[in-house]
Amino acid sequence: LRRPTLNPVERRLGAALTIRDLRAVAVRTTPRAVFDYVDGAADAELTARRNRAAFAAVELVPEYLSPVDHPDLSTRLFGREIAMPLIFAPTGYTRMMHHEGEAAVARVAARHGLPYTLSTVGTSTVEDVAAAAPGGEHWFQLYLTRNERLNTELLDRALAAGFTTVVLTVDTPVAGRHPKDMRNGLTIPPSLTLRTLFGMARYPSWSLNKLTTAPITFASLSGMSGKSGKSGMSGVSGVTGDTIDAVRVADVVFEPTLSYEHLAWLRAHWPHRLLVKGILSPHDARRVVEAGADGVIVSNHGGRQLDRTPATLTVLPEIREELGPDATVILDSGVTHGQDILAARALGADAVMIGRAYLYGLMAGGERGVERAVTILREEYARSLQLLGLNASEAIARHHLRRP
Ligand code: FNR
Repeated sequence: LRRPTLNPVERRLGAALTIRDLRAVAVRTTPRAVFDYVDGAADAELTARRNRAAFAAVELVPEYLSPVDHPDLSTRLFGREIAMPLIFAPTGYTRMMHHEGEAAVARVAARHGLPYTLSTVGTSTVEDVAAAAPGGEHWFQLYLTRNERLNTELLDRALAAGFTTVVLTVDTPVAGRHPKDMRNGLTIPPSLTLRTLFGMARYPSWSLNKLTTAPITFASLSGMSGKSGKSGMSGVSGVTGDTIDAVRVADVVFEPTLSYEHLAWLRAHWPHRLLVKGILSPHDARRVVEAGADGVIVSNHGGRQLDRTPATLTVLPEIREELGPDATVILDSGVTHGQDILAARALGADAVMIGRAYLYGLMAGGERGVERAVTILREEYARSLQLLGLNASEAIARHHLRRP
């Protein structure tokens, strides 16, 4: 008799065939408040549902009798090749989801030849990510703060660490309202209470202990002026202490006076590619490109900011038309299946970003879970491309899709 070689985590991950399956594993491996923080959205969560519904509503129209034996998933973005039209979206507090955190996600991205975006409120520094995944393509998502010295220092560090692209997120002038997090009393990192202590026994792979012995340091807000402070909030006035109320962090980091002047400042201070994330109207898309952005990320933040915004897939064609064929247009919010990538490409996106899809994997099993998430999406995408009658990502066109 051979002893089973798979540990329980491997077995669960291996049995997961869809992102939905990974989500179901994550529910069981992660404390409720953390899972809800990832899975939840703003207010009544209408936009989050709309995002998914828009993908579900498209019809794909195959054309047969042409060879599909060697599907080439790669695509070009800013003139450089990436392995498939998929990018890791920036997500805050990633080491709260699993202690392996950003380093694990960046390693998976690098292995698959896909760009990884580190959030300003990530829990690893730009230097950590560069060291964890050498050779990977790293992007840095910026929340501009009121502190110009901090902003400049951040950009300098990203540049020195070899980051190729800055993503300015503009849909977060203030934090979205998340009733689930408010009810759960979410803090960053989760505070040690009797309840969380008992909770730990139920979630052996998610260890509060690992979090607290390796304190969370924010990507940007730590290590300023050579200091890598515990909880890393030393660079921002008004926030100290080891456990921080999630809503308070957001209120300190976000900049309610963000304007085109800030964008002009950023354009003047960042020499490489600059994308603006959170665009939902053709008007804004045109204006930010005129202000010097190299492209836009059509995003409603996964439904986590203003509720009742349109699904990103429905506004995508208008934005592509406004910007013309040469601008870089990326889409996110609701991508959980390879066919969502097909649909976004057919409607004008160069590539998509995923947020929750990889975080479910991370919560389900750390780096191996993220690996599983990408593998699932790649297999779904490749198989669907072939079934659509195509041999290359670049061949996807508008006529392959219908919207009833
Ligand atoms: C995010 N998102 C986000 N965006 C950003 O610009 N900076 C950030 O720090 C974060 N943080 C963050 C945390 C968590 C837990 C989630 C789920 C999302 C938004 C993210 O970049 C992306 O726009 C959405 O996740 C896309 O929607 P899906 O793929 O999650 O449906």
